[in-house]
Amino acid sequence: MDFIKSTGYSIYFKDNSYLELNNYLADNQINNIFILVDEHTRKYCLPRCKEKISDAIQMDIIQIDSGEINKNITTCIKVWKTLTELKADRKSILINLGGGMITDLGGFVASTFKRGIKFINIPTSLLSMVDASVGSKTGVDLDNLKNLIGLFSNPEMVLIDPLYLETLPDRELKSGVAEIIKYGLTFDPKLLEDVKQDKWKNINNLNDIIYKSVSIKNKVVIKDFKEVNLRKALNYGHTVGHAIESYFLEHNTLKSLLHGEAIAIGMVVEAYISHKLFGFPNLALVSLKNYVLKTYGKIRIDEEHYSPILDLMKHDKKNTNGVVKYILLKDVGDFIIDTTASNDLVIEGLTYYQSSI
Ligand code: GLY
Repeated sequence: MDFIKSTGYSIYFKDNSYLELNNYLADNQINNIFILVDEHTRKYCLPRCKEKISDAIQMDIIQIDSGEINKNITTCIKVWKTLTELKADRKSILINLGGGMITDLGGFVASTFKRGIKFINIPTSLLSMVDASVGSKTGVDLDNLKNLIGLFSNPEMVLIDPLYLETLPDRELKSGVAEIIKYGLTFDPKLLEDVKQDKWKNINNLNDIIYKSVSIKNKVVIKDFKEVNLRKALNYGHTVGHAIESYFLEHNTLKSLLHGEAIAIGMVVEAYISHKLFGFPNLALVSLKNYVLKTYGKIRIDEEHYSPILDLMKHDKKNTNGVVKYILLKDVGDFIIDTTASNDLVIEGLTYYQSSI
């Protein structure tokens, strides 16, 4: 389980990955790198990362403020300016050391700076390890609309080192688990069962679960890089979930919500719609809802918020001709893409989730 080949780059695992990184830097005669961090990854992850990179390499650290709120073009401008001041050129490499915000934004900054410099992802959150850092999506939010600006761009390599998870807060770890539930629901019933038995709480199991998740995602991305078809399945739960996340993001009076927490609710709502439209089994629906409530707690969404959340769904990137499109499930591991559902059904789904609170 040392590496997985992707679309023109490879994903390396554990300690061995740094060997690959140092070989890459030597082979490409790179003697100067830029490492993009936030205040948390600078403190908790950078020391390990620096220790693993050859002493011969000159490193400049570029720090940005953490949080989805900063995943925007203003932060990109700061990084582009710093790269300019530090005289980065087309031979330069940007290493994105962080969670999904850092790997998404850093990939976008690198891909657009001087028409594109190379970048490497070293994800430090579970969410980024199993999803964001793999698959070549880069981008930033436009106001509160998630990932509206961006491009598909390959990293040179992705290094997955689960030791970074040791310093990750529990809430952030669980946020990543939501994306693993998504892989289970859409592609792998056994993976879903493992998650529901909390196997991810044991680090050895978690290593296997990460590898399995990345393998699933990579197979999908290889078949449908630009998300014309199959890759849309990786958006299960995200039509409703992204809208909930955006709504909470723009209302700072509401509890702050992590990506995975919003997606977890989105998956329950979309499972409810799947049950009503395509006979997704009630047992699987109830079991998903109970696991989500147990893992993420009870997140209140008052009825007054339903209508603005439905409005936000109109901006979903999967929509065509103004029609909101969903990925729905006939069963665990059996999905249908590009389906539609009435607003009433979405409201019923939100009410179903809320009724358990
Ligand atoms: N996060 C879904 C995808 O990369 O396609």
